[in-house]
Amino acid sequence: MVIGHPELVAAIASEIAVLGPIPFVRFMDLALYHPQFGYYMRHPDDGSPRIGWSGDFYTSADVHPILGQAVAKQARQIDSLLGSPDPVTIVEMGPGKGLLAKHILSACQRDPGSFQHRLRYILIERSPAMRASQRRHLSSFVNQPNLLTWADSLDELGPESVTGLVLSNELIDALPVHRVQLRNGQIDELCVDYRDGRFVECFRPLSSDLLTHRVRDLNAGWPEGYRTEINLQALDWMKQVGHCLQRGIVLTIDYGHTAHDLYRPDRRNGTFLCYFRHSVNDDPYVRVGEQDMTAHVDFSSLADAGQAHGLSVTGFTNQMSFLMGLGVEQMIGDLEPESPAFHAALHLLKPNGMGGTFKVLVQHKGIEPPRLDGLTFKPFFGSSLAARSAA
Ligand SMILES: C[S@@+](CC[C@H](N)C(=O)[O-])C[C@H]1O[C@@H](n2cnc3c(N)ncnc32)[C@H](O)[C@@H]1O
Repeated sequence: MVIGHPELVAAIASEIAVLGPIPFVRFMDLALYHPQFGYYMRHPDDGSPRIGWSGDFYTSADVHPILGQAVAKQARQIDSLLGSPDPVTIVEMGPGKGLLAKHILSACQRDPGSFQHRLRYILIERSPAMRASQRRHLSSFVNQPNLLTWADSLDELGPESVTGLVLSNELIDALPVHRVQLRNGQIDELCVDYRDGRFVECFRPLSSDLLTHRVRDLNAGWPEGYRTEINLQALDWMKQVGHCLQRGIVLTIDYGHTAHDLYRPDRRNGTFLCYFRHSVNDDPYVRVGEQDMTAHVDFSSLADAGQAHGLSVTGFTNQMSFLMGLGVEQMIGDLEPESPAFHAALHLLKPNGMGGTFKVLVQHKGIEPPRLDGLTFKPFFGSSLAARSAA
């Protein structure tokens, strides 16, 4: 089995040679985002995209444009709740190939009553390779004055500089996570060493006070051997979002759970997985830099972190309910029944598939609690998000 991209493996091995075993979160950060050789940071050698049917995994935007069409509709309602500001901003973080942005902008363009003439769309993307792909997919919009801009990170946007919508789809599951395990009655951190030409796991005490506190908050009576993931970067991200949003809505779409569900004692091995050419495995120490790594999102911790930074929870739903609230029936009504496009759209709605696995967290800041069409159907009680309910 190939260990990984040779230069990336050498870079990680040399960091371990200097520092000793590194926390898994650092290993995952280098594997996915090493500036030159990371999975997301370079173009694959065979020229195929990372995301999509010829890549390693697909996202909703690869399946059908209805998610983008629904978000455009939701954004129009948000714009009018905000009093039609000029400009109204959509910030999309982690846009991948830029397909969701393309579907949103195309839907706005087709809608004569839309806000496109006041819209500025900011794409925040860490990866130069992904930014190039976004420019390609958005080529028909790049020349429209003041419409599209790119930034490397949310820090580049000023404090309280955004009035509008902060959007992400499958960003949080791609952020590097800490992995911890209960061993001999104590929770240790999973670290990565390099021996005899292979990456191997070892354990160390938890590497920060913050991680220790999170583990204490989330441990719901875990049994011996229990292994799970903790996403501290997601909490930092929520803080940055709260910082840059003045008035508006945050829409976070991803696969995940409430803390109560994610950290329940019978989920003994966590949710960490790797994707390579549409097959799933749980071994991050092979094909390093050639396969995606991901872990499910803890929406309770995101909601709590947002609350601490001025973002109140508007609602929590799943993708199926979100799409139904925004009139998906009408959107697919024009499609030929039994056509591939019809089945693709249904794929995003399936309660036992993407419709149920993907959740939508909606938060607001600087406005009264809004009644949004996307939250017409709420399959969960708002209180289910409470992180403490895990204990
Ligand atoms: C799993 S892909 C999702 C892509 C896209 N949103 C979609 O649904 O197809 C994750 C994306 O987030 C980007 N990303 C990861 N961490 C980021 C960060 N800290 N800032 C900006 N973009 C980031 C990755 O480069 C990649 O484009």
